[in-house]
Amino acid sequence: MSRSDFNRILVTAALPYANGPVHLGHLAGAYLPSDLFSRYHRLKGHDIVFVCGSDELGVAIMVRARKEGIDPQELVDRYHPMIENAFSAFGMSFDHYGRTTSPVHAETSQEFFRELAGKDVFTLRTEQQLFDPEAGIFLADRFVIGTCPTCGNNNAYGDQCEKCGSTLSPSELVNPRSTLSDATPEMRETTHFYLPLGDFQTRLEEWIATHPEWKPNVLGQVKSWLKEGLKDRAITRDVPWGVPVPEDVAANLGIDASGKVIYVWFDAPIGYISDTKEWAAKTGNPDAWKTYWQQDDTRLVHFIGKDNIVFHCLMFPAMLMAHGGYVLPENVPANEFLNIEGDKLSTSRNWAVWLHEFLESFEPDLLRYALATMLPETKDADFNWNEFQTRVNSELADVLGNFVNRTMTFANRFAGGKVPELKKPDAFDLAVLKQLATFPERIGNAYDSYRNREAVFETMALARLGNKYFNDTEPWHTRKSSPQACANTIHVSLQICAALSVLMEPVLPFSAAKLRDMLNLKGVRSSMPGETNGIGWDDVVKPLLPAGQALGESLILFTKIEDDVIEEQKAKLGNHPDQDSDESAQESLPYHPVNETITYDDFAKLDFRMGTIIEAEALPKSKKLIRTIVDLGFETRQILAGAAEHFEPADLVGRRVAVVANLAPRKMMGLESQGMILMAEDREGSLFLMGSDGENGSIIK
Ligand code: 2FM
Ligand code: ZN
Repeated sequence: MSRSDFNRILVTAALPYANGPVHLGHLAGAYLPSDLFSRYHRLKGHDIVFVCGSDELGVAIMVRARKEGIDPQELVDRYHPMIENAFSAFGMSFDHYGRTTSPVHAETSQEFFRELAGKDVFTLRTEQQLFDPEAGIFLADRFVIGTCPTCGNNNAYGDQCEKCGSTLSPSELVNPRSTLSDATPEMRETTHFYLPLGDFQTRLEEWIATHPEWKPNVLGQVKSWLKEGLKDRAITRDVPWGVPVPEDVAANLGIDASGKVIYVWFDAPIGYISDTKEWAAKTGNPDAWKTYWQQDDTRLVHFIGKDNIVFHCLMFPAMLMAHGGYVLPENVPANEFLNIEGDKLSTSRNWAVWLHEFLESFEPDLLRYALATMLPETKDADFNWNEFQTRVNSELADVLGNFVNRTMTFANRFAGGKVPELKKPDAFDLAVLKQLATFPERIGNAYDSYRNREAVFETMALARLGNKYFNDTEPWHTRKSSPQACANTIHVSLQICAALSVLMEPVLPFSAAKLRDMLNLKGVRSSMPGETNGIGWDDVVKPLLPAGQALGESLILFTKIEDDVIEEQKAKLGNHPDQDSDESAQESLPYHPVNETITYDDFAKLDFRMGTIIEAEALPKSKKLIRTIVDLGFETRQILAGAAEHFEPADLVGRRVAVVANLAPRKMMGLESQGMILMAEDREGSLFLMGSDGENGSIIK
């Protein structure tokens, strides 16, 4: 189906997880591109709906909430409005921004699930899984920690050891424990629903083959998944946060649905449907969502970052195929990643530029424009503050702003603040007007083909053309030598400004509106949802301003950014690490829960003393133990310390240590250990000695 055969467009932008604020990486991946595309199509007068919403379910949200000691609902209630507000201030022009905790979403996901179950699409698998007998729930991979069988890291997760990178299954962990209760998990039987993606392999391959025009980065990933062969994917989980598996469906199959929820990557893309339903309800035509999702002449486009490719190009399409009656995406123009100042974006190191913080210092249009020129469309790209400054100062201010400014100044001074008549235009005037008429199609084609950088370069090329024309016609000379030639220059320049005020609307919506006010250009269709009448994209081929029309008030469109402002921004990078982030291995590890409460009397029984290690040697037969002699002042003791994986014996000699002095002696490897050296173990399992200034034998209390 060629693009002109579609009668409506449905645009989705990946649903951001509501577990933190939005940063430039997000914007460069899915959001700015989807907004440029949607705004362009609205100006074209196309029937388009643009939806998004917060992704609020799933284990990632649960883990994050747990870390903060709050309910997942409280977490998403905090971040959902924060994300929504930042998007709106940035100019994201969604027709609807929903959230996956909405009742409509629960119902829509359950119906979808029910339909697929009814068609016998799912397979069931009963397997042994770790169960927390104290918390009374099955443990998702991230809720089991234990010792990694490969590297000995004591805090390896059930699915992965972040220290050595091994992929694990919970049953491989040595000494597994639940992060919820610290209990030792038991193996229990549980049954899960699987989406047999392998059954869709051929259909997916055939369908993908009809889209050779997709971006090479997307096709590359998709083909490599297909080549590996698609595997069944579990699409239910035993966790207390998610859309419940419909009880009737489970009961029909003889399964107990209690505690089972739909896997987040099954419900999240259905969120696009829920969001469209909510949008339709808002418009007063609740069935309108069906037109967009279920009629073949809808062009469905999913904007995402590259980490979401498999879900949008294979898994969700398989779900849609299985359901039947739904359109499949016409394109999934995923972007690559955005680095910051040459380094990988990392929220834990605060190597990120946060949208809400950016907007405290700058106008949204500056970021929209600069970021659009740097989008990672074909490969990873870099955002750096100096380039941002150059884009703003040398392009927005010096090219676009300057052209508008000199045109307005001349119109006010030499044309009485009105659009002068174009009389006897010379060949150059006409040639420029003719050239102007070619821009809408060129810029438009670039937007329509997901080449946003090109679209934005072409937009700026029109301002450059304006400047060149203005320079070449020298109105500062002709105003004396040939007033009509001067008037013609002003007329043509004003027409270029007017054209710009429409063509720059997708990328610079706030400045475009300001420019239209300056020109007193009325009746231009907004690129925000809801307006369908008025001057639009294609009208730009003709001059938009009638001669004689009074102009509005002149304003400065863009102010240059000083170096110190940029330095201030750079200084923020890498500072104030975001404690909330999940990224660094250490921070994402759960803290060990505090042990059961003891009485003061229990505590008083322990006798801790300061000491100094005066001898230390490895035990040839033990990987873990080091034999030490500790001077406690009043006596010396032999103490075996389980520290061989962390310290060289020689490094221990001379170290001050805290010792449990009244621990009953214990035999290990045939040697008596007369006490215990206290050590701090961090979340990654690294050990630290605990020294102090007190003399040997001092009581620690
Ligand atoms: O990667 C993410 O941030 C996911 N929350 C994207 C979900 S996109 C869609 F399927 F909902
Ligand atoms: Zn490991």
